[in-house]
Amino acid sequence: AMRVELSKLSSQLHDAEARKHFQTEMDGFFMLFTRYLNEKSKGTKLDWDKIQSPSPEQIVLYSKLTQAKSTEHLNKLAVLKLNGGLGTTMGCVGPKSAIEVRDGMTFLDLSVRQIEYLNKLNNVSVPFILMNSFNTDDETKRIVQKYASHNIEILTFNQSRHPRINKESLLPMPRTPTSQIEQWYPPGHGDLFESLLNSALLEKLLAQGKEYLFVSNVDNLGATVDTNILNHMVETDAEFIMEVTDKTKADIKGGTLIDYEGQIRLLEIAQVPTEHVEDFKSVKKFKIFNTNNLWINLRAVKRVLDESTMDLEIIVNNKTTDSGEKVLQLETAVGAAIKHFKGAHGINVPRSRFLPVKSTSDLFLVTSNLYSLNHGELVMNPKRMFNTVPLVKLGDHFKKVNNFLSRFQSIPNILELDHLTVTGDVTFGSKVELRGTVIIVANHGDRIDIPSGSILENKIISGNLRI
Ligand code: UTP
Repeated sequence: AMRVELSKLSSQLHDAEARKHFQTEMDGFFMLFTRYLNEKSKGTKLDWDKIQSPSPEQIVLYSKLTQAKSTEHLNKLAVLKLNGGLGTTMGCVGPKSAIEVRDGMTFLDLSVRQIEYLNKLNNVSVPFILMNSFNTDDETKRIVQKYASHNIEILTFNQSRHPRINKESLLPMPRTPTSQIEQWYPPGHGDLFESLLNSALLEKLLAQGKEYLFVSNVDNLGATVDTNILNHMVETDAEFIMEVTDKTKADIKGGTLIDYEGQIRLLEIAQVPTEHVEDFKSVKKFKIFNTNNLWINLRAVKRVLDESTMDLEIIVNNKTTDSGEKVLQLETAVGAAIKHFKGAHGINVPRSRFLPVKSTSDLFLVTSNLYSLNHGELVMNPKRMFNTVPLVKLGDHFKKVNNFLSRFQSIPNILELDHLTVTGDVTFGSKVELRGTVIIVANHGDRIDIPSGSILENKIISGNLRI
């Protein structure tokens, strides 16, 4: 029935080119859907008892890598940011990468700065690639126009668009190939490989002599080009490297690397049987997690895709649309591809290479004086006594970027902050300094305004107490 519905959709397209493109996308979707039905009837294939911690050779310590002396391999590198996601959690309508992070610069601006500097410093021209989705393409293209006159090659391409599936009927939601945006979804970043191939970008990069692709989440400000890792990849002939980092209690949901019957694999929480979820979250058993900074050999991608398709574990995402329809989205993760590559392994990198902005609490940190900018790269303020990042929890009143911005006249000085919790209707004046542990709780109906110039050190402020 699904097949019939998909053909009905494509037969509505009269332009041959458009129909071909649409059919390719629907073929990819149909393959994913068929695999989903198979797995649903057979059950998940993962046998928990066969899961082992990766061996020391499978996770190399970053500190053990040789310091790169040469930058010659940069000529063969391309950098790609996963840019298909929206900033909905932080209340933005457009691409997350368009959020202003620091000094008037967005995630995109910072990445461009970094690559421009890398290119200039090493006299190379590493291309900067954005994988957009139908949700982010228009605005991203508009934003990067301003770099047209810059000395940097920016390439964009679109990932696939899949139809949302009605949960009960298991039929596609859209009735026409051009129906409303909410009836479609981008099928996760695991779609990178198919989309690189379908957009012909894979061929183009190979033809340009590019052999290595550094992939990362666009919101990870720590994902900079690292020549130690690049050289290590070349020297070890590894076709796929995943940067992992030590797991803390805050990262319990992140995917981890495992040894499964001698093969290295990514294990995501979505694949874990309910009775083992606590096990999965434990920091002891699974010590590291995936930062999604990945180094991938492009020729190997071509080989794997030529041999067959990537068989990435399906993550079923249950959603309810604005109109109240229960739908399924079948998604995949790019890191799951690790099992298809030769010599694939993890590198345990310092935490500083994982600096994602998922919430306004993260935004608070990266806009503060804890960091400064160096050619688009965030570096921690050397005046910070310990190399740790404070734990910050801003409440719902701060959840959206607009609210967040309007509640601080300026971002407080947090060089000596360890822990900050703010809940309720709280505002901050300018030049506030926070030290140690600070907890501010405005009860329902109350409001707390922290006056300009205040210094709060190990303080709890609550109710309608005024300082
Ligand atoms: P995710 O949404 O998978 O991870 O996006 P996240 O940002 O960690 O998710 P939350 O915040 O927990 O919900 C990771 C990166 O992959 C891109 C996003 O733009 C982001 O940079 N992405 C995600 C795509 O490019 N395409 C997709 O279909 C999904």
